[in-house]
Amino acid sequence: MARKPLIAGNWKMNMLSADGTALAKGVATEVKKLGKPECEFLVCPPFTLLSQVKKALRGAKVALGAQDVHFNLKGAHTGDISPLMLKDLGCTYVIVGHSERRADHKESNELVCKKAQAAIENGLKAVICIGETLEERDAGKTIDVCTKQILGSVPENATAANTVIAYEPVWAIGTGKTPTAADVEDVHAAIRKVVAKKLGKGNANKMRILYGGSVKPGNAKELLALPDVDGALIGGASLKVEDFMGIASKACVK
Ligand code: PGA
Repeated sequence: MARKPLIAGNWKMNMLSADGTALAKGVATEVKKLGKPECEFLVCPPFTLLSQVKKALRGAKVALGAQDVHFNLKGAHTGDISPLMLKDLGCTYVIVGHSERRADHKESNELVCKKAQAAIENGLKAVICIGETLEERDAGKTIDVCTKQILGSVPENATAANTVIAYEPVWAIGTGKTPTAADVEDVHAAIRKVVAKKLGKGNANKMRILYGGSVKPGNAKELLALPDVDGALIGGASLKVEDFMGIASKACVK
């Protein structure tokens, strides 16, 4: 089953106007050089830079995404951003349920599910993040935790066309540590089985499951070559054009 790899940058709470614009322009230039890239590109800057990054990406095959969304379309939700606002800015993707939001903002599976559902209903693609903590991993609960997160966070309206799952072991994020390639493949294969149960085999076979957590140019080849890994969600390394594109260069070889 051919799934086009997705190379996604999660800039998190980094970058101001000047360096964010320069980064987006740098990515755009490199992606344009690829002509017809074999992978899909996505950058997810902070809300404050969406508009500028959209302009900087003009003419390049790089999608724009946000890092969070509210499940309501408008109203009295101070500080929140709605799916319609994201669409208005040219976003086509939104990350939901990142472990930093689950931890910092106590986001539950139920809330993540509502956000993903609202995003999809309003024409955005949801990148739904899941992943275990080190404690859970050491207790042998990785697959259980991921199963619960998928069942609880992936909405009924999810399909392979509107949803991407990102498996990000919490202990691997920003630490320089990654699971072994064999462990990553085991978890991704297990995730695909759960997706098949929930959304049917057709969706499971076509849905992209990204790996995230300390992906770098040096480990990307091994991770991205795994049969059930369909791209990467990249934090730290997405903040440098060479690293982001270095990872992408390893993704398009399957
Ligand atoms: P990292 O972050 O690549 O810096 O580990 C990944 C993520 O949190 O999406």
